[in-house]
Amino acid sequence: MTLTAVRPAHSAEFCLDRVARCLEAAPVPLSGELHAGVDLGTSTAVLTVTDGDGLPTFVASEPCEALRDGVVVDFAEAVEAVSRLAAAAAAGTGRRIAAAAAGYPPGVGASESRACRFVLERAGLDCTALVDEVSAANAVLDIGDGVLVDVGAGSTGVGIFRDGELVEVGDVPGGGHHLNLILAGALGTSIEEAERRKRTDGAGHLPILRPGLERIAVSIERLSAGHGSLPVHLAGGGLMLPGAAEIVSQYLERAVVEYPHALYITPLGLAWSSP
Ligand SMILES: Nc1ncnc2c1ncn2[C@@H]1O[C@H](COP(=O)(O)OP(=O)(O)OP(=O)(O)O)[C@@H](O)[C@H]1O
Ligand SMILES: [Mg+2]
Repeated sequence: MTLTAVRPAHSAEFCLDRVARCLEAAPVPLSGELHAGVDLGTSTAVLTVTDGDGLPTFVASEPCEALRDGVVVDFAEAVEAVSRLAAAAAAGTGRRIAAAAAGYPPGVGASESRACRFVLERAGLDCTALVDEVSAANAVLDIGDGVLVDVGAGSTGVGIFRDGELVEVGDVPGGGHHLNLILAGALGTSIEEAERRKRTDGAGHLPILRPGLERIAVSIERLSAGHGSLPVHLAGGGLMLPGAAEIVSQYLERAVVEYPHALYITPLGLAWSSP
């Protein structure tokens, strides 16, 4: 189910670039009713706000490890993170954010996904919609026929789209955190240092990370079995390494499309999914 509030007539790339610019300063003036989305992830919680024209106007993220394998394991930490994000959004936009759409990882049950709604409500936000993360991402990417893959820190979610309809969905462990574990093991560093090195010199560490990236490719292959002719579109921060998409493409022997600022695709789609 995707409830698209206001989708501007700009490309996904234009809107994602605007999200990235919001990290530096919120664009002003704001026009119309604001729409917000909250993406609770394994490593971060992200709140995105769009204006009345659907244009990204504010984004903020908080480190938050309250989710594991798609399940809220630390409710209090998640509530605190979302409360801080809502306060930051109010300060950044000059408007109180009273409601937001929440995302949940594809493949989790209804009761687990409801936990995301409860997190928002406890943080003082009405939950306007509960949307699976691949449908939210596709509100931005607008894939007709293709495989949408959201590789985050902890999990790889896959949605198969045919004629713009989500026909299959799945989610398995594996993402950026697992790449950190491989790098930390190989370099003999802490996981935090591995994360830093991955971000500052991702290309330089590709040979070490290749097996981990191929493992993610295996997950994509399994979760899109029977749809091998469809191109793969990458959302999420987990594969934001120069050369990672090419490794996945070589392994799968199919086209892989990457996007700038991919970790903001799902958060933006959630704001667009808030009526
Ligand atoms: N510039 C970068 N280069 C490499 N990796 C990056 C970069 N920026 C973010 N990441 C990785 O992206 C991951 C976070 O992505 P994202 O925000 O999509 O995950 P999440 O939503 O928290 O997790 P999940 O969806 O699995 O619950 C982290 O593992 C981080 O290391
Ligand atoms: Mg995520």
